[in-house]
Parts: sequence; C-alpha cells; structure tokens
Amino acid sequence: MAAIKSAIPSRRFDAVIVGAGGSGMRASLQLAEAGLNVAVLSKVFPTRSHTVAAQGGIGASLGNMSEDNWFWHMFDTVKGGDYLGDQDAIEFMCREAPKVVYELEHFGMPFDRNADGTIYQRPFGGHTANFGEKPVQRACAAADRTGHALLHTLYQRNVRARTHFFVEWMAIDLIRDASGDVLGVVALEMETGEVMMLEAKTTMFATGGAGRIFAASTNAFINTGDGMGMAARAGLPLQDMEFWQFHPTGVAGAGVLITEGVRGEGGILVNSQGERFMERYAPTLKDLAPRDFVSRSMDQEIKEGRGCGPNKDHVMLDLRHIGADTIQKRLPSILEIGHKFANVDATKEPIPVVPTIHYQMGGIPTNIHGQVVTTKNGVNEVVNGLYAIGECACVSVHGANRLGTNSLLDLIVFGRAAGNHVVASNLKARSNKDLPKDAADLAMSRLSKLENSTGTERVQDVANAIRSTMQQYCGVFRTDELLQTGLGKIMELDERRKHVSFKDKSKVFNTARVEALELDNLIETAKATITSANARKESRGAHAHRDYEKRDDENWMKHTLWYSEGNRLDYKPVVTKPLTVETFQPKARTF
Ligand code: FUM
Repeated sequence: MAAIKSAIPSRRFDAVIVGAGGSGMRASLQLAEAGLNVAVLSKVFPTRSHTVAAQGGIGASLGNMSEDNWFWHMFDTVKGGDYLGDQDAIEFMCREAPKVVYELEHFGMPFDRNADGTIYQRPFGGHTANFGEKPVQRACAAADRTGHALLHTLYQRNVRARTHFFVEWMAIDLIRDASGDVLGVVALEMETGEVMMLEAKTTMFATGGAGRIFAASTNAFINTGDGMGMAARAGLPLQDMEFWQFHPTGVAGAGVLITEGVRGEGGILVNSQGERFMERYAPTLKDLAPRDFVSRSMDQEIKEGRGCGPNKDHVMLDLRHIGADTIQKRLPSILEIGHKFANVDATKEPIPVVPTIHYQMGGIPTNIHGQVVTTKNGVNEVVNGLYAIGECACVSVHGANRLGTNSLLDLIVFGRAAGNHVVASNLKARSNKDLPKDAADLAMSRLSKLENSTGTERVQDVANAIRSTMQQYCGVFRTDELLQTGLGKIMELDERRKHVSFKDKSKVFNTARVEALELDNLIETAKATITSANARKESRGAHAHRDYEKRDDENWMKHTLWYSEGNRLDYKPVVTKPLTVETFQPKARTF
C-alpha cells in the first residue's frame, strides 16, 4: 500500500461532481457543454454506476399509449409518497418529464418503439389516469435495460463534451472554509492510494444511495452512502432517512432486482394457494399498487402462512401467461436473471420473490436547483458552493414512498436543473477561493488514524453487523421495541467502527482502505436511518409502524432532519403549496 504523502497535490476546476451515475453525468453534460472545466469522480467506470441496474423505465406523461398528462403524474406522485413530498418540487419534476425524455431521445437513447415510431411506454406501480381511475402506461422503456441505455447515452455525450473523468477515485471529505463555503473535496485514487485536493467553485454530490446498509439489497456494492457520510461529517443534516423502499420483487435468497415492468407487462403475484392475492389488498390497481403497499401485502401473506417454498418465506411472480415472445422482446434480462439467480425458465415457471431493500427516499436536503440547504429556526439557507442530486439528495419529490420510474426521472430532471443553475451563476467570471490551511485535515486525520490504528476490529465484520442489524430491526414492519433495540446495537457498532485496523499492514491492498472509509459512511447512514425511524410515531409510506398503525397528519406531516453530532433530530415543514396549481390535500391511500 502506498504511503500517504505529507504535501498534498491539488488541482483546480470550475466544478467537481462526485458520482458518474445518471444525475452526475446529466449535470456534467450541462456544465461541459457550457464550456466549464468540470471533473467527475467515480469509484467505478462511469457506465458501471448503479443507474445501470435500473430496469423498467423512466416516467413521463408522453401519452403515447393512451391519454395522459403531467397533472395526473403529479397527483400519483403526491399520493404515492403518502403526502410527505414537497408539492412544488413534484410539480416541477412532472412538468419537466416529457421535455427531458425527448431530450434523451435526441441524445440517441435507444428506447423501444411503437409501430408509429413513438417511444414505447408500459404500466408501472401507482401510475394512473384521471386521479387513480385506472392504470396508465407512463414508463418510457428500453426493454428491461432502461438505466443501461441511459447511462451509455450520457457517457458518450460527456466524452464528446470533454468532461474530465477521474475513474476509480473516491471522495473522502468536503473542503469547507471558516465561513462554511464548500471549496471542493479531498479524494483518493483507489489504485495507488494517492490523495489529492480537487478545488472547485461548485461541488456537486451525485453519489447515489446507501442500500448497502441492509443485508438483502438490490443495490450495487458501491452504494455505501458516501455523499451522506461526507455531508454528515461536515455538520450538514440528512432529511427523511427513515423512509426506505422495499422493492416487492427481489429474487428470493439473492436480492437481485426483478423489474416492476414484469407486472407492468401483465405478470402477477401468487401465494402458496395459487391465489392472486393483490386483488384482495388493492382491488383497482392490484399488482400495480405502489411498492410500499405491495411489499406489505406480500409480507402479510408470508406471515399468515401462505408463503411458498419449504420455508414458506417468499411468494411467486408468475409471467408465463405473457408468452415467450413478449418476454424475450420486452423482458430479456429478466429471463436471464431467472436462469442465473433462481434457476428457473421464466417462460415456463414462476420466479420466487421477496420484498428487498431498493431505494432511500431521504438524503441531503436540497431546493429544486439542487443547492444543499440547511434550516435554522424554520428558515432555509443555501450552503454556498454545494449541490446534491439524485438518490443521495432529498428535494423531496418521493415523500415517504417513491413511485417506480420516478427515480430515473429525478436523476435527469434535477441533474439538468442543477447544471443549468450552476451555468447561470456565471462561474467563469469568478476565481477559485484560496483553500484554508486546514483544508485536508479532516480527510487526512481519518486516513492516518486508520494507518496507525492498533484496534482489533475487522472492517467487514463491523460492516456485516451493521447490515444484519438494520435488516432485523429496521425492516418492512417496525415496532418501538425493534427500533430501540436496533438503535442501541447500531450505536455499539459505531464504537466498534472506531477501532478497526488492518491486521497485517504489509498485506493490505488499497481496496481495504477504501472499504474502511466506506464503513464510516455506512455507519452515518445507518445511524440517521434508525434514529429517525425510532422517533417517527406513525405509519406513513414505507415507514410501517406496528405500534402506530395510522398516518398522523396532525403531528407528523413534517420532514425529519438528522444531525450526526449528538445523533440529534430536528424537523421542518412539508411544502404543501405547488408552484402553479392547487394543493393536493391528504386523503386515505386506497388503490
Ligand atoms: O422495477 C424497476 O424496474 C425499478 C425501477 C425503479 O426503481 O424506478
């Protein structure tokens, strides 16, 4: 392992973006095409970012299959999020959706086509026509590889625009000056262990989610909450972290995602009695109810003894009736995943599935321009020089439960909006602020503590213990007892985390150092999640609390803000007023 140098090299950019997934590369494209000097850091090659795993589609009311409009999309998003989403941001996203999808089409993204040449759209959970009347086809799809198609399109455009990629680089910590302005990041080259300061007039986090704080997850191994960890260590809050989405259809025992597009194409969920049980829980939308609803229904079936398999611990996703031709055309990856991870031929046998952690609705609080905001005495203040976009951000358009396809949409709408906002701020006319003397202190002290640690804890033991604790104590259904016990265990793991070290330093690869740095981010996100969940005494969206079964708008229609220092909580109001239309008033969620 390379030694850490005492004099740290530094490079200057107009903008540094941490993360090369859909939001990061949509923002960088906007900046690079405007002639800004932009660096994008990524732990993996850009086209391997987790956006690549998005399967079913990107939501936009194009109306290619039947009548649709942005206002219905907005209604579905507000209701799907159980009224916790900010309605100004939701209106903005749903209005922008058709435009950003056509833009992707013009960038060359290979969407599936209808016979008339328009973009093919499939139904997805919670997307309806006429305010819940019937399902609508709103998910613009590239087979079941929409994220893959999107990411490759954006990468190629960025190469053309001369975006500067730092591949296999990990950001360690933010650089802030005494006034709190953000001046860039300290980063580590993963192969060599080289540390560098990347100075920037604008720093943007696009680091994705932290799905790896759970044991059973559809998320890539890189999703360790790096942006959230850096924000938390810099004293910034994390918003609504109690809300985590379980995707109804992860392959049982493997966690790999089976797209909701399967149900969009007609697939159904059945229990051990062969019953299509979603007809009982959601008579109108059935298998295409929002994900929190379907996941809880599945869990209920399993708990009541109607699960499948020798342990009765999963249900079946049956798509045989769709027909082999349609499966091969519209869902080719699902066929492959069925073979590889469940050992079934999905054209002939159902796939065993269970609700699996998929997405965090919370994150670093931002406004609709992507600027990170803090809230003091009810007043929002922008953090100068810092933006956050995509899954690591909470703008908040998903409220307490995201609708499928709104995640790719969020990436593109807010990646583009943040890019536009930075371009409009005329960065070229300003020079980089000088770095304070202690610019790299936080990052370097973490690295040197790790190098010199005499502790006995192993990184992977602590990381695995975080995952199993979160899985057991902060799952689909929560109780006061589970959450309080889990919180105690996570705080104990936070102590253990401080004593990790590499036993035999001569045999340590730089990947081990990276995993140790990631552990610091995992624990911040886990603490934020379980502390926020423990405090919220109601059930709303993905936060299903057995001791408080009902949504409580009187006391809990508010966003949680968690601070790392002191493991402290605060709250701020939900924005119920949209930009131009009437507020959607909270109603009971039936489907
Ligand atoms: O089911 C899916 O294809 C996942 C889509 C999403 O999370 O938006």
